[in-house]
Amino acid sequence: MCGIIGYIGKEKAGDILIEGLRRLEYRGYDSAGIATIDNGQIKIIKSVGKLRQLEKILRNSSLSGNIGIGHTRWATHGKPSDENAHPHSDCHNQIVVVHNGIIENYIELREELIKKGHKIVSETDTEIIAHLIEEYHKNHSFEEAVSLSLKNLKGAYALGILHSQHPDTIIAARLGSPLIIGLGENEHFIASDIPAILSHTRQIIFLDEEEMAIIKADEVKVTDLNGCIKSKTFHQITWDPIMAEKDGYKHFMLKEIHEQPRAIEDTMRGNLKEDDIFLDEVKLSSEDIDKIKKVFIVACGTSYHAALVGKFMLEELSLIPTEVDIGSEFRYRQPLIDDKVLFITISQSGETADSIAALREAKRKGAKVISICNVLGSTITRESDGVIYTHAGPEIGVASTKAFTTQLVALYMFSIYLGRRKRALSPQKAKELILELRKLPQCVINVLKSAEEIKNYTKYYFKCNDFLFLGRGINYPIALEGALKLKEISYIHAEGYPAGEMKHGPIALIDENMPVVTIATESKVYDKILSNIEEVKARDGIVIALANSDNQRIMDIANHVTHISKINELLSPVLNVIPLQMLAYYIAEKRGCDVDQPRNLAKSVTVE
Ligand code: F6R
Repeated sequence: MCGIIGYIGKEKAGDILIEGLRRLEYRGYDSAGIATIDNGQIKIIKSVGKLRQLEKILRNSSLSGNIGIGHTRWATHGKPSDENAHPHSDCHNQIVVVHNGIIENYIELREELIKKGHKIVSETDTEIIAHLIEEYHKNHSFEEAVSLSLKNLKGAYALGILHSQHPDTIIAARLGSPLIIGLGENEHFIASDIPAILSHTRQIIFLDEEEMAIIKADEVKVTDLNGCIKSKTFHQITWDPIMAEKDGYKHFMLKEIHEQPRAIEDTMRGNLKEDDIFLDEVKLSSEDIDKIKKVFIVACGTSYHAALVGKFMLEELSLIPTEVDIGSEFRYRQPLIDDKVLFITISQSGETADSIAALREAKRKGAKVISICNVLGSTITRESDGVIYTHAGPEIGVASTKAFTTQLVALYMFSIYLGRRKRALSPQKAKELILELRKLPQCVINVLKSAEEIKNYTKYYFKCNDFLFLGRGINYPIALEGALKLKEISYIHAEGYPAGEMKHGPIALIDENMPVVTIATESKVYDKILSNIEEVKARDGIVIALANSDNQRIMDIANHVTHISKINELLSPVLNVIPLQMLAYYIAEKRGCDVDQPRNLAKSVTVE
């Protein structure tokens, strides 16, 4: 949720921290702050609001020091305010902490600390960590004081900690929230996400659960909470830092929409053979595959919509019954999960708390777990038996776009893979499906050519209060996704419906003010969708349609038609969602909304 950055080395820490925070701001942005150690003294600067507020204060201050930690906050405990912004310190301003996650037992800890004479000034759960370390530091070393404090915490944390008496050390720790260490030459970094430090280093260590790192400019030591040394491997990150920049587009979201042909190509790369798919990292043996009687897919938000599409693909190509659930719902019911279930978690970030909880529950019940994920080394990938990586690259815009289409490609490839191994698909059929997949990047390029035309017609609709999105079959989840995109970035009320349900209620809403976006590309239910369009028109509704170019009837009746290249029905959701992403984008942009950082939303939802 929040973003953490830390630096120790020879450079001025303040500048590096601010640059890192700028790249992390998408994770949370109601307040921000940094702390450095300058001549043995902790200096803290923080401010409510966007990062530019903090930068303004910094310009008028003389914050020096070669060691520091920084934070962008998305409030969980305590309103956004200067007092609640991180970093937080102890009574004597000697220990300072930045934190991502939630401490569940902070109320009890707070009461105990107050009884011992600590003066707690913020409403956050984070501040008590600094006081707890202060308390233990009376009788223990800095390192011991941190590990003893961590043993008292229940909940989730990624932490960066400084002590003014130890100006050569940052201590970092993680439980439940991601944290990485970047390795430089006589300088080191900590961050909650790779883009924050990519311009400085590509050598990364991923901290694991309940690990602590004692970081100096020339040394990194990782231990468990009992001080036992852990040996860690380095990962070389291949992302180009420019990939994390806007690349000339007005917003990250628009850039990411236009990156989809490349992202899809990268996701397919190396996995396609002429009549089969090879997914080495799913790590399913032939015994594992023989065992599978059912697939269960769990995810949240946009990734959940991908899961709904995946159900159609898996059932059609592998003939295995597939159930789909939302992460936050799954763990509170009692679905039958055992070792005959293949459990799939889909997540862009790999850090979504509800999806992680579902994955752990499925594993506990004996299911084999694989994940479809965009972030290498994330919690979900590390806890899964196997992974299919979507190679979308870093997704900065809060509204998910390229992560979604690459998830669909991963699901399509996996359905062919499973279908072949379950002998539900002939080599010939697999060959045809793979040929269609190879056409996809070019078809996406063709759809992206409608950007100007979509931008033009949004001028008629950006002031509307409500939108309806209709789709059927495998494109019903795309209606849900179109509605989600519009509401999250433009704040317009929008609903996605299966088109056949319209007559059972939503038709009452239709009048001359209601745009109805209808997905009407060729499919088994094409004629029925056409009838739905006629019903909307008969009630003076506005019809925006997606259709293949050879359908004259739609051209005649719809107010606007976006042409979609023909592709097999199972891949049609990948093409159909793109005009809906652009529709949401241009409407939000015309309404002057903060497209990349919509209100109340964060990129990675690491709390339940
Ligand atoms: C919507 C959006 C969210 C995420 C959801 C799950 O545009 O981005 O709905 O899809 O929070 O996130 P991941 O995929 O990271 O698990």
